Amino acid sequence: MIAHKNMCAVVVAAVLAATSTVKAVEAENPAKLKWSFAGLFGVFDRAQLQRGFKIYREVCQNCHSVSMLSFRNLADKGGPQFTPAQAQAIAAEYKVKDGPNDQGEMFERAGRLADRFPPPFPNEQAARAANGGAAPPDMSVIAKARSYERGIALFPLDVIMAYQEHGPDYIAALLKGYEDPPQDFALPEGSQYNKYFPGRGIKMPNPLSDGQVTYDDDSPATLDQYSKDIAAFLMWVAEPRLEERKRIGFQVMVYLLILAGMMYLAKKHVWRNVALHPDKLTPRAPTEYSR
Ligand code: HEC
Repeated sequence: MIAHKNMCAVVVAAVLAATSTVKAVEAENPAKLKWSFAGLFGVFDRAQLQRGFKIYREVCQNCHSVSMLSFRNLADKGGPQFTPAQAQAIAAEYKVKDGPNDQGEMFERAGRLADRFPPPFPNEQAARAANGGAAPPDMSVIAKARSYERGIALFPLDVIMAYQEHGPDYIAALLKGYEDPPQDFALPEGSQYNKYFPGRGIKMPNPLSDGQVTYDDDSPATLDQYSKDIAAFLMWVAEPRLEERKRIGFQVMVYLLILAGMMYLAKKHVWRNVALHPDKLTPRAPTEYSR
């Protein structure tokens, strides 16, 4: 009994210690933005995905890989929907490692639709060494891998409203979150101050600024627009079947509703005699039933 009490005390102390030490420097909560792909019927904005891809190619790709994305995906339904010829042309601009050839050597060739996007660094160590000790994470699923807590009060609302855009909200905020550190903040060596990054010292130099990427359409070339476009693109990369998921999910709900109605009518039909002649039904003892 005493041992049991002691155990409880240790557990309580450990829980208290853990909760009090977490998050020495809280990051600020990202703003909740409007996304075309939010909600029950959300779909991606093709032009936005194409702009986001342009930013990935011109800026983020210098440091971040997207190892799970293939060139052919660029022409897939539900994505940026480049034509297969456009996707082919994009692939051909990349050098992909292939081989070994008949001499047993690896060689480089132009990319094809079936290839994955080649990484900017040969391995994680090289990526780390080139970025002050922090390897830029792979971007294949980062929009789904990053989230933030909106607090227990908003949680039920988020469930009802099907809020699932924590990742893109965070990415868009992160790209706009670079600031001069406050006086009393001890910024770690080689880090930048970013109020949305947990700990607030990030080893990624501010990657985007106004006017950096020239758009082919007439969207404004501003940091605000860039941050939304790249976040939307990364959401598609992380969940390329989002549109299909939402469509099928809706169809399933309609199907279940119709089925529930039919089951109800079938039940009414089967039990109709009982409902029509309630007085004719006299209970019988179980022994009276034939076996
Ligand atoms: C100069 C190299 C470089 C470029 C260019 C760059 N990044 Fe990064 N990025 C990094 C590094 C390094 C980290 C890891 C930071 C850390 O852990 O402190 C990182 C981390 C991130 C993270 C993860 C943050 C987290 O919560 O862990 C996101 C998201 C991100 N970058 C987005 C982008 C986007 C979007 C672009 C293009 C607009 C971009 N980065 C361009 C180097 C870069």
